[in-house]
Amino acid sequence: MNAQALCLPTVYLNGKFLPIEEAKISPLDRGFIFGDGVYEVIPYYDGRGLRALEHLKRLQRSLDELEIANPHSIETWEAIIGELIERNGGGNVGVYIQVTRGVAKRDFPPPPGLTQTVFLMVNPLATPKPETYEKGMSCVSLDDNRWLRCHVKATALLGAVLLKHEGSKLGGDEVVMFRDGYLTESSASNIAAVKNGVILCPPMDNLILGGITYELMMELARKNGLPLEVRRVHRREVRAADELWIMSSTKEVAPIVTLDGKPVGNGVPGPVFKKMRALFEDYKRNLPAAPSTSLKAAE
Ligand SMILES: Cc1ncc(COP(=O)(O)O)c(C=O)c1O
Repeated sequence: MNAQALCLPTVYLNGKFLPIEEAKISPLDRGFIFGDGVYEVIPYYDGRGLRALEHLKRLQRSLDELEIANPHSIETWEAIIGELIERNGGGNVGVYIQVTRGVAKRDFPPPPGLTQTVFLMVNPLATPKPETYEKGMSCVSLDDNRWLRCHVKATALLGAVLLKHEGSKLGGDEVVMFRDGYLTESSASNIAAVKNGVILCPPMDNLILGGITYELMMELARKNGLPLEVRRVHRREVRAADELWIMSSTKEVAPIVTLDGKPVGNGVPGPVFKKMRALFEDYKRNLPAAPSTSLKAAE
């Protein structure tokens, strides 16, 4: 495949901005060999990050979980991101950051003293088409068989990849996952249900990724007086829900209108979703301007 089609042309690798074709990583990188690394995807709208700081703080938490030192300060990350977006022409983009433990002889225990591999690329932000927000998504339910550290944004995503693949074969736009009968999340998004006007939110424990969009939605709901309960949500409640939503940095907040072929509520996007969507759009319109850090100043 033409490398140009894979992402916007300029990437960042270990201190250098360079064309994607010139970005080379050792096959002995532990990210390649073991999936020993973490990542982030941060949405930027014309250079203004949506909760970029929260994403960078989550990157820190993921690195801490793997005992990988963070190679950069927040200021340096912001400066690298700013320059990368600028070099790729700006616009609405998703910034992908990956940090791996680095290159070593293949052996399970991580040796000390490795130099982290740092890779960033940007892609045009692939938010759903307006029809998706108007008509909703069709999803299928699957048992969540991923590992028990789903709060870590690890690059080892095979569990999620296979579940998403299974869901696609069953005809689902996305999957809705359950563990021991309780709602967890989707393969790359969080999920909330609504019953009798109350938003039901699975807790941010080790069974789901604490989504930045999910957190923002909860904050907007609380600020605007929408009733919300953070608690485990049983499969029965999901099946009987009036509304289901999917939330992530790229999906934003989108309605699910059928689950396993049956309508969710009335089978159309519900009133609480519409209110939340309007609050989200309003939040996006009023994003603060990008910080003016330059890479040189940050180093
Ligand atoms: C498993 C999982 N859950 C939830 C999310 C949503 O997180 P965010 O809102 O921070 O994009 C993601 C995003 O990639 C994810 O991979």
